[in-house]
Amino acid sequence: MKFTDSPVIELKVRDKTLAIEQDNGSMHVGTSVWPCSLVLVKFLERWLLSNSSSSSSSSSSTTPKPYTHLLNFSGKKAIELGCGCGPAGMGLFLLGLENIILTDITPVMPALKRNLKRNKPVLGKNLKISQLYWNNLDQIKTLNPPFDFVIAADVVYIEESVGHLVSAMESLVSDTGFVLLGYQIRSPEAHKLFWELCENVFVIEKVPHDDLHPEYAYEEADVYVMKKKMAN
Ligand SMILES: C[S@@+](CC[C@H](N)C(=O)[O-])C[C@H]1O[C@@H](n2cnc3c(N)ncnc32)[C@H](O)[C@@H]1O
Repeated sequence: MKFTDSPVIELKVRDKTLAIEQDNGSMHVGTSVWPCSLVLVKFLERWLLSNSSSSSSSSSSTTPKPYTHLLNFSGKKAIELGCGCGPAGMGLFLLGLENIILTDITPVMPALKRNLKRNKPVLGKNLKISQLYWNNLDQIKTLNPPFDFVIAADVVYIEESVGHLVSAMESLVSDTGFVLLGYQIRSPEAHKLFWELCENVFVIEKVPHDDLHPEYAYEEADVYVMKKKMAN
C-alpha cells in the first residue's frame, strides 16, 4: 500500500472513486488524509464484496461468512469521530452505511465541507456533518445517541484527549452496536491510556492482518472492533 503527500488522494470504493483533497501544510492534522481510514474502508469493502459473491455461489448455505455481523448496514445509524477530510465516512457511506454523521472540531470543518462538495457527484447527496469536541457533553446529547456504529480512524495521538474520546465512544454507541476503529500507534502514552480505558468498557477484537485488504494493509495499521461490555 502506498501513501502519498499529493494534494489529492484517490480511494476506489466498489465501482466509485472518491478524490479527497488534503493540505499537509496546515496546522490541523485533520486536513490530511490518514492511512488507517483507508485501511478500515477497504477491510470492510473486502468482506462485503466477498460475502455477496459467495451468496450467489452454491456453497453459500454451508459456509459461514466472516464479518456479516459488521456488514449489515441497512437502516443502521452511524457517526464518525474526528473524521478530518472524511475518507472513512465517505467510504463507508458508499458501502451502504447511508445514515452517517461526520464530525470533527470547528477548524477542520472547511476541509471536510470542501471534500463533501467535491465528492457530491460520487456520493449522490450531501452527507450530514456536525461539530463535535469529544469533551462536549451537550454536543454529544444533541447528536441523539445511541448509534449502531461509531467509526474512528487515527484519532489516538494526544494523551490528554484519550479519556474524553473513550467516554464519547461509550456514550454514543448503542448496547448492541460496534465501534469500528482504524488504528496506528502515534504516541506511546496515548496508546497505553487508550487501551487501558477501552478494556474497562469494551470487549475488544483485533482483526487479523490477513483479513485486511491485501493492497490496503501495512504492518503498523490495525482495525479493531469493539462492543460495550454488558453487566451480567
Ligand atoms: C490524525 S487526524 C485523523 C483524521 C481522519 N480520521 C483520517 O483518518 O484522515 C485526527 C482527527 O481527530 C480530530 N480530533 C482531535 N482531537 C479531537 C477532539 N478533542 N475532539 C474532536 N475531534 C478531535 C482532529 O481534528 C483530526 O481531524
